[in-house]
Amino acid sequence: MSMKSSIALVGFMGTGKTSVGKALAARLNKEFIELDAMIEQKAGKSIPEIFRQDGEVHFRELEIEVTKAVAGRKNAVIACGGGLVLNKINTDRLSQECIIVYLAASPRTILKRTSADNGERPLLPGKLLETRELLKFRKPFYERAADIKVDTSKLDIASVVEQIIKKLKEHESFDC
Ligand code: S3P
Repeated sequence: MSMKSSIALVGFMGTGKTSVGKALAARLNKEFIELDAMIEQKAGKSIPEIFRQDGEVHFRELEIEVTKAVAGRKNAVIACGGGLVLNKINTDRLSQECIIVYLAASPRTILKRTSADNGERPLLPGKLLETRELLKFRKPFYERAADIKVDTSKLDIASVVEQIIKKLKEHESFDC
């Protein structure tokens, strides 16, 4: 079995992929990579601008390109956008070098954590019912991609990091 040295964080918007990713990378002494930031850099504009001017399909194309570019990276913690798992090619590529960690959260928690969001996330549902619906649709995609799952609803960042590390140690193909 080949050993993996990187971690990819997937999960719905507001589940803490970026904040947990930064803390986890610091803790494990690995490079932190945020795919949304790479997409913005590549496009030369913000994510809301990409969605508005070029549409979601173009955004997903850029997401596939940046994922391909970083997929083989060793010793990295990669924070993925919430919809990355919708294209299986992305998780197939990431899983070559990464253990894929699914950060889950309840719809209420997601709504609470994203309430201060001011238009940075074009696909963010504003209401509980819509959040439930989109989460229900996406859940099988996250579950299918995941090697490890952590429910973050009742945990702070440090506790999520500890949970991930504990589960990584149990994972036979991760090189800690
Ligand atoms: C998206 C989530 C966003 C970003 C884009 C689309 C999604 O990332 O990639 O707005 O489809 O769920 P975050 O999950 O980091 O907010």
